[in-house]
Amino acid sequence: MNDTRDKWNRIYADRTEPGAPATALVRYAHLLPATGDALDVASGLGANARFLADRGLAAQAWDVSDVAITQIRHPGVTASTRDVEANPPAPDSFDVIVVSRFLDRPLCSHLAAALRPGGLLIYQTFVIDKPEGVGPSNPDFLLREGELLELFSGLTVLAFHDEGQVGDMAAGTRDESILVGRRPPN
Ligand SMILES: C[S@@+](CC[C@H](N)C(=O)[O-])C[C@H]1O[C@@H](n2cnc3c(N)ncnc32)[C@H](O)[C@@H]1O
Repeated sequence: MNDTRDKWNRIYADRTEPGAPATALVRYAHLLPATGDALDVASGLGANARFLADRGLAAQAWDVSDVAITQIRHPGVTASTRDVEANPPAPDSFDVIVVSRFLDRPLCSHLAAALRPGGLLIYQTFVIDKPEGVGPSNPDFLLREGELLELFSGLTVLAFHDEGQVGDMAAGTRDESILVGRRPPN
């Protein structure tokens, strides 16, 4: 894990702009609750956490890179250096969890359990058949076709996106899959 942290620390040493929040978070923002606790998992510079805080949620940003985390200073965001693989969130602890461009398969069951009843998961990351070739090349970090549905099979699916390589490949959003899921209310 020190290798991972050191790799990302080197990347964030040269990067200060958080960039845009995940397109899935923006597109499905109307599904967010007005208040509650939200978590941006593997947040990087916290673009998703900042967006969530601006929407009125108490947002936490967790990332293994202390260089990234120390750069996050935004009203309503609490940023913590945390290895989410070693220290996943506790059960029943968040109303909203957002993950973008990060995949650790064993973590997914912890994320589903960390949602409170009625809680919302927004997940967006790269697929193995990514035509533009952006993102990681290691298949450990790439989704198979429909895999988010399997990883979060206990959630109610509100939205799912995985276009594969069907039809006009010059159109559409092909490189990433999106799942918006809700833990069933008690
Ligand atoms: C591709 S970046 C994505 C950052 C941000 N979510 C985004 O969409 O811009 C992947 C992030 O995962 C973080 N990361 C990798 N392994 C991690 C772990 N075990 N625990 C927490 N963060 C981790 C890295 O530090 C990096 O910030």
